[in-house]
Order: sequence, then structure tokens, then C-alpha cells
Amino acid sequence: MPRSIILDTDPGQDDALALYLALAAPEISVHSVVSVAGNVPQPRVTDNVLALLSLVGRDDIPVYRGCELPLIVEQYTAEYVHGDTGIDGADIPPSARSAESKHGVDHIIDTCMDADDNSVTLVPVGPLTNVGMAIAKERRIIPKIREIVWMGGAFDEPGNTTRLAEFNAVVDPHAGAIVFNSGIDMTILPLDVTHKALFPPSQITRLREHDSVVAHACAGMIDFYQQYDMDKYGWEGAPMHDPCAVAYLIDPTLFTGRRMSVAMEYMNDDEMGNTYERTDGSEPNATVMFDVDRERFLELLVTSWCSL
Ligand code: RIB
Ligand code: CA
Repeated sequence: MPRSIILDTDPGQDDALALYLALAAPEISVHSVVSVAGNVPQPRVTDNVLALLSLVGRDDIPVYRGCELPLIVEQYTAEYVHGDTGIDGADIPPSARSAESKHGVDHIIDTCMDADDNSVTLVPVGPLTNVGMAIAKERRIIPKIREIVWMGGAFDEPGNTTRLAEFNAVVDPHAGAIVFNSGIDMTILPLDVTHKALFPPSQITRLREHDSVVAHACAGMIDFYQQYDMDKYGWEGAPMHDPCAVAYLIDPTLFTGRRMSVAMEYMNDDEMGNTYERTDGSEPNATVMFDVDRERFLELLVTSWCSL
């Protein structure tokens, strides 16, 4: 029985790659997609989700427009990484379809309230604004959620946006704190593991040689997106941040980590969005992944994208 997920996303090339990985996986059923302002603002992220789904003929998957701004802090976007469209590198035509009329936060709430306890899987791969807002608006969704699988945070690894903080955390640390403190069990794929999940340029050739629109779109997006991190860190390849979250759901054995009690800083201006292990003896609230079987991970990505 495939695992049904709600993907909450801010495309972003790596978000797009994660979406396509999920669509290709027999282990996963994408129930719906909710957009969140992150890498680029609304309505661009919503338009990107719609376009990405239309490209692969999946207009059957409902899309909901989520929050426009972080709960409290000033909006911060990442066109410097992803380009003005957010999915630069692939020429993806706009969708003729529109998002559903219901707000993304209300969609998350309604889906949870209609579900059995411990049955909903949320996969946020952007800032946690929508999930945090949903919990704040309707706390009765908490027992309905089986797991939140989040790409975000940095623990032993330095931040990629401030010296301490990773982008998805620091863009909306208050929403992150609501989620971290909710008691909902989390699996977190932080920079500690995604910075090991690098996609080597040599693998792009495999995608280009595969005769499919999606494989070529993935190649183009990676080609563009990798430049920032390769220039910044001198790496041979781009970190597959968001695909890590989906790959974990497809095959958890790809990753190793440990149970931790984790928190997100939302008060100290100098440390906003810092994610750290609590030392107060509180119960673990997350499994944090630190390592990945890179070879099997990369093979999963390429074969999945080539299968669409
Ligand atoms: O720090 C990486 C994360 O921030 C990824 O989810 C990327 O898409 C951006 O949202
Ligand atoms: Ca993202």
C-alpha cells in the first residue's frame, strides 16, 4: 500500500526533483501539494508546482496555495540560488490549470480532521509556515499526524543561510518552533546529511542521454542549481536537499541517524533558525539523519526521474 503524503513545497529546483521522485515511486502516493513562499515568493511557487505537475501529466493531483509570508520575520527569498523563476534551467511551460480555491493551510487542517489518528504524513521541504500555521489554527490536527518528514535545519554542519541556520529554518523560525514543540514526531533531513548527498555533474549526462522531457528538465534544473553551491563550497555537484526527504520515505535504509530532542531558536536575533539538540533531558521528538548511502541514493534518483 503506497504511503500517502501531502508535499509542502517552495519550488525551487530541488523541490521539483523531490516532487518528480515522489511521482515516480510506487511506494508513495502524492495526495496533494501545498505551496509555501520560500525560495521565491507567491504566486510564483504555486505557478511552479502547477507547471511541474502539468509537465508530467499529473493535473489530477490537487494543488493548494499556502502562505505568502513568514509568521513574523521579514520575508527572505533565494533567487540568488534558484534564479528569478525559482526553477531556472528548465523551460517548463505554465500550466493551464489553477490552484484549488481553498487555502493550503485549511487544506492541511481539513485533510487531517477527516483522517484517522496517526495517519497523515506531511512532507514539508520548505519553510514550515503552512504546517506551523495549521497547528496554531487547529491544534486538534496534532494526533492525526503520523510523521512530519522535513528537509531543513543544520546540527553539526554550519548553516547555509546564516553561520548557524539553514534556509528552511531561518526563513520562518517561529513556525518552525511551533512544529518542533508540537509533539508531532519528526524525521529531519538537515544539511548534515544533504551536504553528503551531492549529485555529480557526470550523472547529468545520464539524464541528458535519456530521451524524456522530464529527464531533460531535471538535467537542466540541476545544471543551473548546482552552480551556486559548487562556487560557494567548491564541491563536485549539487546537494540534493529535498529529494532526501522523499527518498527517506521510499527507502529508509538509505539513511542513518538518531533519535534526538531538538529545538529551533526563534528569540535570539543572532541565532534565529538555529536547530540544536536540547540538553534538558526532554523526550526525543525527532529522528535526525546524518548519513546517506550515496551510491544507492543517486541510483534511485536517476532511475526514478528516467522512469517518468
Ligand atoms: O537549505 C535548502 C532548502 O532550502 C531546500 O529545501 C531548498 O529548496 C530551500 O528551500
Ligand atoms: Ca525547498
